[in-house]
This record gives sequence, structure tokens and C-alpha cells, in this order.
Amino acid sequence: LRHLTTLENLPRDCIERLLDRAITMRDACAHGTRKLDLLSGRTILNLFFEPSTRTRTSFELAARRLGADVINFDIGFSSTSKGEELFDTLHTLEAMHLDAIVVRHKVSGTPDELVRHAMSGVSVINAGDGNRAHPTQGLLDALTIRQHRPDFSRLIVAICGDVKHSRVARSDVHALAKLGAKEIRLCGPAALMPDASEFPACTFYEDFDQAIEGADAVIMLRLQKERMASIDLPDEAAYFRQYGLDSRRLALAARGCLVMHPGPINRGIEIAPEVADGPQSRILEQVGNGVFVRMAVLGEMLAR
Ligand code: CP
Repeated sequence: LRHLTTLENLPRDCIERLLDRAITMRDACAHGTRKLDLLSGRTILNLFFEPSTRTRTSFELAARRLGADVINFDIGFSSTSKGEELFDTLHTLEAMHLDAIVVRHKVSGTPDELVRHAMSGVSVINAGDGNRAHPTQGLLDALTIRQHRPDFSRLIVAICGDVKHSRVARSDVHALAKLGAKEIRLCGPAALMPDASEFPACTFYEDFDQAIEGADAVIMLRLQKERMASIDLPDEAAYFRQYGLDSRRLALAARGCLVMHPGPINRGIEIAPEVADGPQSRILEQVGNGVFVRMAVLGEMLAR
């Protein structure tokens, strides 16, 4: 694996290998090995043009646990604010001999553009680009589901909310479909649903009660207002009534349905607090798995 910009073209065996490797990393950490030296001498740059809590922190933690040096590039205090163009920034940073750049950008396709313009052998890892892809989130969601529901041939997953603007939904679908999920349901108001032709592996629902019925896992998505130009949204209370996950709706799902959310969650808009904090919630487990998946990806790419 040289770069990771999307899961779309990643073979199933590569996805499975990364998930297995994440479990190895988890077990190593659980047995008290807080730091491995797999990436000693390597330098990894976090280049985030959009805000992040989970992804940036877990990439940093993952890199440090593997013994790499990490630089968190501060966009606000960088020469980007003086008008430096993205590829000039890239070449400037490459001249400092980096091994990998972890990039998040609001424009879809930016990580692939960096791959095309890179002049050194730097690896590029997508930490989320526009509404296109968030591959490590797709991997950590697949890992979280696999830990509880290992037989994907019987797995029904419902992904609900602002699917149209969600890079997480796209990467989740790529991962789950590759791993052989029985059924992937996408649900949301018509204005927030993508074109069905983009998701041939999925079934589409406008009614959340129908979408969640019998589901083994439900992945809730927040309204990505920062990516909406002119969509006429219902008010938040009305949205919650139609598309919020509360205890009544969760009772329609399969027994023990996994409640998931990539975060950040918006309580009372797409998910009720009692469900987000309830016994079926795997939201914080997803966060923990994010560190192990990112250790697996960095190890796979950069270990000598
Ligand atoms: N899931 C996710 O990408 O969260 P952050 O925006 O906090 O990184």
C-alpha cells in the first residue's frame, strides 16, 4: 500500500489484512506495549485544512505509538494565509523529507491531486476530502461491526441522515460492500440523498422506521451544514422527529443492534442522548478503534 485516498479500489484481501493488523495493534497495546518502534526514524505530517478532533488526534497517537516523529501543521499560522498555493506548500514540505502526509481538505479529490503532484516518494493518506472519501473511518467502522457481527453474509446495516454530503457514508459503503454485507440501506430526506446510480450496492429509504427494521447496525450521520449551499432544511425538531434515532426507533432494529456514529454527534438532532449514551452505543468504541486502524495503515505503508 503506497497511498490511501479511497477504499473504492482497494481489494477485499487488503481491507481484511488492515483490519487484522488493527487487531494485532490493539492486542499489543492491551498487553502494555504502549510504544512500538516499527516507524522509528519516519516523519509524518498532519495537514488538516478542515477541523478535526478524532481523526487528527488518533493519527498523531497512532504515529507516536509506532515510534514515528509527528508534525501537526497549523494551517492558521502557515503561509497558506499569505496566499501560498497548495502544491507550493506540498513541495516546500516535501523538501523537508517527510515520509507521509495525512491530509484533510474540503475539496473532493485533493489527496489524489497531492499524489499526482508529489515530487518525492511521500505517501499520502486521506483523512477526509469533501463529500468523497474518509477511508480510515470506513475501515474503523467495518472493524467495529466485525468485532460484534463477524458474519457479514447475514449483516444488515442502515446508514441514516445526510448521506448526500457524507464522505463517511461513501467509505462505509465501499468497505461493507467489499466485505460482503448482505444489505446496506441508505436513508434520509430526499434533499439529502445522493443519486441512486452512485450506490448500486445499496437500497434507498425515505422512511427511517422502514430502514431500521431488522438492522444489525445503524450508522447515524450528522447534518453537514458546512457543505450545504441552498438546501431547504426542516427545523431541527422536525428533523429529529422524522430522522432522529431514539429508543422507540431502535426497538424496531434487530435485537442488540449496534448504534454507531462517526462523530461529532449532535444530540437531539440526529440522535437522542439516551441512545448515544445507551448500552447499544458503540460510538466511543469506534473512536478507540480509530487509533488501531490508523496504526495498521501507517505500519502497512511505512514499516521498513
Ligand atoms: N469522524 C471524524 O472524522 O471526526 P473528526 O472530524 O473529529 O475527525
